[in-house]
Amino acid sequence: MVDNNEFPEGDDLSGVKKRNVPVFGQGNSTLVAAGGEAGVQQLVTDFYHYIDSLPEAATIRAMHSDDLSESRQKLATFLIGWMGGEDRYVERYGRMNLAGAHRHMAIGQDEKQAWLMCMQKALDAQPYDELLKRFIMVQLSFPAEMCRNRN
Ligand code: HEM
Repeated sequence: MVDNNEFPEGDDLSGVKKRNVPVFGQGNSTLVAAGGEAGVQQLVTDFYHYIDSLPEAATIRAMHSDDLSESRQKLATFLIGWMGGEDRYVERYGRMNLAGAHRHMAIGQDEKQAWLMCMQKALDAQPYDELLKRFIMVQLSFPAEMCRNRN
């Protein structure tokens, strides 16, 4: 179902092509569009709210420690660098190998989908352009697939 507020051209998703499409993914443009570091902190706070409360995410929630603050901090620091901001992850936590960092957890299709669903809901809670939300979801689907280690 097409949201005519997001797509005022009204016909179908091809309407996005007629818009003045912003450029994401160059330099720190994604980070800026996401509200800077404070915007990413909010995104991650909302993401972990969904991890913590949605029944679909219960398996992922159980993989974390009771206190989510360190996970929140690590993911926000990682995403800030990933969006073209300062790369403080390596400074603070050492080199990051996503697949390696997730190897000790059983991540299959269901866990990957649940993770991405929480991220979609968190994005939907932000005052972002619809195109930015889609860009981030598409881009995150690659590392999410790298984290999957079973069917
Ligand atoms: C595919 C589904 C995913 C699941 C189920 C998942 C689950 C988890 C869990 C449970 C932890 C905490 C591990 C611990 O406390 O020992 C974690 C850590 C982390 N995850 Fe994921 N994750 C997923 C995808 C991703 C993606 C796509 C990214 C980045 C774009 C990411 C970035 C991170 C980072 C940076 C950490 C902290 C690693 C560390 O330094 O210990 N994860 N993940």
